[in-house]
Amino acid sequence: MGKRTAILTALLLVSGTGVALAAAEAEQLGKSNLRFKNLPQYQLYLKNSDDTKMTEFGGSVPHDKHDAVHPLPQGYKHAQPYLKNLWLGYPFSYEYKRARGHSYALDDVFHIDRVDRYSEKAGLPATCLNCKVVTIPDLVKEKGDAFWSSNFHDLRQTHNSKEHAIGCANCHDPENKMKLVITSIPLDEALKRQGKDWREASRDEMRSLVCAQCHVEYHFETKDHGVAAKPHFPWDLGMNPDQIYDYYANGQPKRDGFQGAFADWTHAVSKTPMVKAQHPEYEMYSDSVHAAAGVSCADCHMPRVKQSKNVTISSHQWTSPLKSEESMQAACLGCHTDKTPDWLRKRVEFHQTSVWKQLLIAQEKSVRAHEAVRQAAEFKGVNEKSLAEAREMLRKGQWFWDYVSAENSVGFHNPTKAMDTLASSQQYSDEATQLAIRATGYAIAPKLDLPIGQLVTPIMNHSRKLQQSQAHLDSHPWLKYLPKLPEADLVWDGNQRLR
Ligand code: HEC
Ligand code: HEC
Ligand code: HEC
Ligand code: HEC
Repeated sequence: MGKRTAILTALLLVSGTGVALAAAEAEQLGKSNLRFKNLPQYQLYLKNSDDTKMTEFGGSVPHDKHDAVHPLPQGYKHAQPYLKNLWLGYPFSYEYKRARGHSYALDDVFHIDRVDRYSEKAGLPATCLNCKVVTIPDLVKEKGDAFWSSNFHDLRQTHNSKEHAIGCANCHDPENKMKLVITSIPLDEALKRQGKDWREASRDEMRSLVCAQCHVEYHFETKDHGVAAKPHFPWDLGMNPDQIYDYYANGQPKRDGFQGAFADWTHAVSKTPMVKAQHPEYEMYSDSVHAAAGVSCADCHMPRVKQSKNVTISSHQWTSPLKSEESMQAACLGCHTDKTPDWLRKRVEFHQTSVWKQLLIAQEKSVRAHEAVRQAAEFKGVNEKSLAEAREMLRKGQWFWDYVSAENSVGFHNPTKAMDTLASSQQYSDEATQLAIRATGYAIAPKLDLPIGQLVTPIMNHSRKLQQSQAHLDSHPWLKYLPKLPEADLVWDGNQRLR
């Protein structure tokens, strides 16, 4: 500890002495972000800690994504009130917040209620750090495949935000002139399965592939059919929602690391095996107008910025390009030379407003389908075959909704695909409701004939702590389906062990 502090202090004292660090210092710091602190990109990287600005639909102020009641920083005007209902029985229902800058990744995963901080066992494996830190390749080298399923909590005291949060070594090879590289093991393997090798990718492709290391959909392999808890990208049949859904419906041990239909969890109320989507930015973008025109993620999210009169570098503040006139000038106007920032922002918001409207409708139809399946399942003499078909359609409808919902651009990355996906979601969810009704010979139809707000109210408050209280579980008809958790106090807070 003393030695490391001394080295850091020494580094802080050598300011403006150029790029190269003494070999001994570099080795001590390994891939820590501090090793690169003399590069100008590092100064821009520090700006990722600015979490004060919002745009109409995006931005960096963290808030609960289901809360449309409270203003920032707790809630936001564009929120999805039914998120906790839709994920009931899955840790996502405890806490789900807006993303912010890369420098917060470690802090945020250490504090999220999805990881069980009330217990010695985190409930989620160390693999969750795959997209949060710079150390994964080294950890896998050291511990082998056992790393992925090891206890998340074990890494708390060895990782800190300043050195280890997503940083330079995730995308660059410091031993080779900071060349762009892929360090993500699951991306490397997903490309291999497609017969591709990122080492042969063009510079433009690399400017998106480095983001595809994390801004993608994934699942975890199982120990029976692969490596326990190892992340795996479900791209073998394609990247569109129907292709990924087919992949999840028909898993193959050799190819996918699971057999048969894959489920992230079973919904507590409808008892339906569900698939949760995670931020498929790369998949959404992959067949967009911008991708077709060869525009990369970095073109819009890492525009060139002036350092001095003759020097420009790539912005290393990854955030919404819509935050200011200047950021839009840099990110968009280089190509859209005949437009103004205001004109382009309005075009983006036009797409987002349309997508948002259909997203909320899709969400409500999914909630209705869960309620219909719940009622059908509890109906005496239900037709089990129709009920099973209803569950299949419910699972599919929610997956299609989540593909757009979990994607962070509110449809802008690919407006046509976002709308098509939401239309499909609505059709599948409606079909699920109809199948559930028919499974009861129309007996439950009158009970479902209510506006969604009266049929099922949004669950506004829910957390691991609340689930330790019977009074909370009695406060909403859907919460009654959850088991009461044993009473416990926090064991972990960030890097700190409390007990
Ligand atoms: C044509 C420009 C463009 C391209 C290409 C692009 N984006 Fe975006 N991105 C945007 C815009 C515009 C938004 C919406 C921001 C807002 O609503 O404030 C956005 C939003 C986002 C957000 C959410 C930001 C927030 O404020 O919440 C993420 C994350 C993101 N993009 C990642 C990516 C990734 C990864 C890629 C490549 C796979 C990509 N983007 C490609 C322009 C682009
Ligand atoms: C998420 C991936 C990613 C991370 C993390 C990242 N970079 Fe970059 N970096 C890029 C991309 C993309 C480029 C543009 C490369 C190109 O166009 O060939 C780039 C370019 C550079 C360049 C070349 C000059 C320039 O500005 O275009 C340097 C030097 C650099 N980065 C340093 C850093 C440092 C230092 C850090 C950590 C503070 C860092 N990068 C973190 C993706 C990343
Ligand atoms: C190692 C994983 C990783 C890589 C590589 C990565 N990201 Fe991220 N990105 C994340 C995580 C995790 C967050 C959310 C952090 C949080 O909220 O604490 C995030 C957040 C963002 C945001 C939201 C920031 C805000 O202000 O709201 C944008 C935009 C973004 N990333 C774009 C990109 C782009 C573009 C690339 C490629 C050049 C990229 N990211 C590469 C993991 C990654
Ligand atoms: C590297 C060049 C490039 C950059 C950077 C770029 N675009 Fe584009 N954009 C295009 C091309 C090419 C098209 C296809 C239509 C065309 O040729 O005008 C397009 C189309 C569009 C469209 C119309 C299509 C649609 O999806 O509605 C919008 C809106 C748009 N861009 C917004 C933006 C915004 C906002 C940014 C900055 C965040 C941006 N673009 C950055 C090249 C670019």
